[in-house]
Amino acid sequence: MALKRSAIGAVVVLSAILTACAPQTRPSSTAQHGPIEVTGLRTNELDHPLALAAVGPSFSWKLVATARNTTQAAYELRLAKDDGTPASWDSGWITDSKQIGVPYAGATLAHGQAYVWQVRVRDNHGQTSEWSPSARFETELDIAADWHASWIGATDPAATSAIFRKVFELPRAPVRARLYVSSLGVYRTFLNGEGTDGDVLAPGWTDYNTRIPYQAYDVTTQLHAGHNVIAAMLAPGWYAGNIASFGPEKYGKSPSLSAELRIDFADGTHTWIDTDGSWQTAPGPFRQADIIMGETYDARGLPDHWDDVDAAPEGWTAARIATGSEAHTQLLHPQDDEPVRVTAKRQAVLLPHQPTADARLFDLGQNMVGVVELKVNAQAGKTIQLRYGEMLNPDGSLYTANLRSAKATDRFTAARDGEQTYTPTFTYHGFRYVEVTGTADPADVLAVTGLVQGSDLPWTGKLDTGNPMLDQLQSNITWGQRGNFVSIPTDTPARDERLGWAGDINVFAPTASYNQNTYTFLSKWLRDLRDAQSREGDYPGVAPNPIHIESGAGWSDAGITVAYTLWHSYGDRRVINDGYASMTRFMALLERRAGPGLTRVHGPWADWLHLDDPTPADLLGTAYLAYDARLMSEMAAAVGQTGDAAQYADLAERTRRAFVARYLHADGTLGTNSQTGYAMAIGMGLVPPAAVATAFVKTIHARNDHLATGFLGTPWLLPALSAIGQKDLAWKLLLNRDYPSWGYEIQNGATTMWERWNSLKPDGSFGDVGMNSFNHYAYGAVGDWMYRHIAGIAPLAPGYARFAVAPTPGGGVTHGGGSLESAYGRIATSWNIEGTRFSLDIVVPPGTSAEVTLPGVDSASVQESGQPAGSMAGVSQMHEVATGAMLTLGSGHYVLTGQIKQPI
Ligand code: BGC
Repeated sequence: MALKRSAIGAVVVLSAILTACAPQTRPSSTAQHGPIEVTGLRTNELDHPLALAAVGPSFSWKLVATARNTTQAAYELRLAKDDGTPASWDSGWITDSKQIGVPYAGATLAHGQAYVWQVRVRDNHGQTSEWSPSARFETELDIAADWHASWIGATDPAATSAIFRKVFELPRAPVRARLYVSSLGVYRTFLNGEGTDGDVLAPGWTDYNTRIPYQAYDVTTQLHAGHNVIAAMLAPGWYAGNIASFGPEKYGKSPSLSAELRIDFADGTHTWIDTDGSWQTAPGPFRQADIIMGETYDARGLPDHWDDVDAAPEGWTAARIATGSEAHTQLLHPQDDEPVRVTAKRQAVLLPHQPTADARLFDLGQNMVGVVELKVNAQAGKTIQLRYGEMLNPDGSLYTANLRSAKATDRFTAARDGEQTYTPTFTYHGFRYVEVTGTADPADVLAVTGLVQGSDLPWTGKLDTGNPMLDQLQSNITWGQRGNFVSIPTDTPARDERLGWAGDINVFAPTASYNQNTYTFLSKWLRDLRDAQSREGDYPGVAPNPIHIESGAGWSDAGITVAYTLWHSYGDRRVINDGYASMTRFMALLERRAGPGLTRVHGPWADWLHLDDPTPADLLGTAYLAYDARLMSEMAAAVGQTGDAAQYADLAERTRRAFVARYLHADGTLGTNSQTGYAMAIGMGLVPPAAVATAFVKTIHARNDHLATGFLGTPWLLPALSAIGQKDLAWKLLLNRDYPSWGYEIQNGATTMWERWNSLKPDGSFGDVGMNSFNHYAYGAVGDWMYRHIAGIAPLAPGYARFAVAPTPGGGVTHGGGSLESAYGRIATSWNIEGTRFSLDIVVPPGTSAEVTLPGVDSASVQESGQPAGSMAGVSQMHEVATGAMLTLGSGHYVLTGQIKQPI
């Protein structure tokens, strides 16, 4: 076999080269302080990426230390090719505490090359760590030089799905093999009959006219000497399938696939297998494969052994080379967020009451997102149908009216008799219930298992609420998150929508960023949003936006607020730098539109789905302008744009003053007296809280201590009550169980967050069927308050380098806590009230400090591990404040106790 291109690097040797070529450093005396270690190395916030942008990688790590009050004083970082050559970059010792987003400063990295890097640190106690275990990454391909693969499609350009295969021969087993693959449409790839990774719906959704993501898979162990076969399946996906209710073909008509398999041998040679006209294709089993409508799968279209080397398929023809191939190739871009995967499995149970004799209705016990694995006793040629619903009708049948035009129906036609398993490949659904019809006997449905799918983000947060109803609320929030984070953050996974609505993620991002590490996922979506930015500078209502949905206050602002949330939650400034030019264009547009009077009226949605408690669009728009400007001022300062920082601070203050002048009345009322108006004005720091506190509380009492807020107001509601000293009222709203409240949903059996407070009305009927999803995360934004007030954990400096720990017990809850795997390491809290004794167990990771408030506690009584706290290592700045005892803790594990001297 001919080698097609010159080698771009020698064969990888998986050895700890860096360790081998560097002099070993012994840590200095650890007697006094215990050792310090470096762990958790991440490159561009990813673990071992296989196609990392070659320009500007950045590095992050965590420290493990037993000594209290440990911070990094200096670090040394070195990087080498993973091929046995010596370190190509060594930073030398740098006196800096920076552990997050440390930029690479060596020579330009090669493309398609494996690298390893390590770091060692010196701490503030003078100890030096060992070199860390090495982290590995590979760089992206040089698309112009290396991507020779064609884009191939079905022979018939009108076909929307197809299968492909190619047999090739290898002289010997490889030492390394990487499959780089992308598609316009969605694909699955197989080597020698085995799937190449667990990725689902790859390459994911972007604006395919601007960038097309490609994936890289390690397939070394899937190849062998002799004949091998690579195979693929291709379907329309977001590219040519239905988008929401707007119909198909929003980017193009005919899906196509492009793949490059690079195979390296021990002797330093390598070869490539690319998609080209030598690949064979057949129509395959997919009669329909649509994300919104579902999948129709005829197993007779997939010959046995279709992806075996030995099969000599009949009726296969040469793949068609898609037109525009070169233009598509230029848009290739390595995926830099977590792929969609199957993240869990759930067994469904057969419902005790079956509404009809010929159907089998199953319950997953959880409103979930993904597909099912159907185990069935089938008959050749007979079609079995699966339908999905989030709820049941009063008569026990499947409720599908709220799916609107989404058919959400899968059909499976068996190729043979007997027991077999069917799992849809190129669709997904939002459902709790599954109805199976079409078997010869309903008892032929042997088992239904839910395969939970979503972008596979690391879970980082845990809440211990001390209250079963709140535990369920937290569960509902996280299920809403995992089901709606599917390549992009969607509004709902079930009906004919599933769009990246900006307003929804604007309000939910802070909560989401406690629950999971959202950095790469939401950074990717911010790029989608920038790709869809209008020429004028406005951000759209949804991203990606092939259907040209307009924008509005609280929606377009996600371009600023989500970036700020990511920076603040993870401390990595790349998200600011990457979006800076775009964000400043957006701000300039807002300022221009607001005019000298600084009034912003923008967009149609206002405080979406509020309960008869409207807030004027100009009040919302102006509030967001002031808020955006303040966040921009902080972000500009963080990236050294001091001039901009001052200008944005000035814009924020001028807009705030204009807001006060226009909306704050002499009697302490604000605007039209809506709950949302007060909550946002207080939460965004636009009015002195005391000035509006009484009027705000009145709006809650006027609703019999219930909420009336929509999407924009809800995240601010409890924080604003806490800010005006109405913690008990905040707790009351949180713990309400009657309509409208979070608890009302739970009382009514919710296992995810509902779109509307009245998605199910108090009389038991369904809410407005025109728009009624049972899996919408916006009202889950209350999770942010729960983490801040029940776990008590809140960031004070980006990445939690400094954070507050201030639990505010209430509602009769006597213990709580939580944890967060922060960029610096694990933060954990656990508090308890026993009589007049308050105790707090707290873990502060190295590199950070915690500003702790023990609620209502007499500072003189505070002890740490049974000793007066003030004398203990790591404890400083003990003092008393109105809300209790305050102290600052350096890193370490502390057990604090104190006497409660005032009601908390
Ligand atoms: C979506 C929302 C979205 C809204 C815009 C709805 O159809 O489901 O979540 O934010 O439109 O108002």
